[in-house]
Amino acid sequence: MDVIEAIRTRRSIRRFKRDPVPPEAVRQLLEAMFVAPSAGDQRPWHFVVLDDRATLDAVPAFHPHARMLLGAPLAILVCGDPSLETHKGYWVQDCGAATENLLLAAHGLGLGACWLGVHTRPAREQGLRDLLGIPEHVVPYALVAIGVPDEPAGFEDRWDDARIHRNRW
Ligand SMILES: Cc1cc2nc3c(=O)[nH]c(=O)nc-3n(C[C@H](O)[C@H](O)[C@H](O)COP(=O)(O)O)c2cc1C
Repeated sequence: MDVIEAIRTRRSIRRFKRDPVPPEAVRQLLEAMFVAPSAGDQRPWHFVVLDDRATLDAVPAFHPHARMLLGAPLAILVCGDPSLETHKGYWVQDCGAATENLLLAAHGLGLGACWLGVHTRPAREQGLRDLLGIPEHVVPYALVAIGVPDEPAGFEDRWDDARIHRNRW
């Protein structure tokens, strides 16, 4: 799949088959995140790979929109580490770029994924801190559910002329 096709046809997937995600695919997903752009190439992130059933099942207790994790074989938590920043304040954008790379890589590998918002919801951040033992200086940013898709999804036309401005507003 070429990159334009991947971008056009990626959708959030919330139903997964029981199949595990192979270790080689997990490695490719992680690599896709590591090559994301970041301000000053500072890479202020950590990634937590979650494939323990009990851990995945515990998340919906403190995240109100994460029930799909009960049927997901894998999730990756993208965390920001502001202490690694040389260009202060960009870590949120850096982590967003890594998260989108993850979604597109999953789609390109024939997997499905869904971005679950964590930052800036204090109960979700604290829930993940407690569950995973994340240190105080690291911020849980986004959790991505991943697995073999078990629902149809495809391109949706969202073009909106009203949101396009040329040369000036
Ligand atoms: C910051 C952010 C937070 C999101 N949080 C959730 C979430 O908690 N649960 C969920 O099911 N989907 C979540 N989504 C997925 C959106 O609902 C989804 O991207 C949107 O409906 C557009 O659909 P699409 O991804 O299929 O294009 C989130 C997406 C983003 C970017």
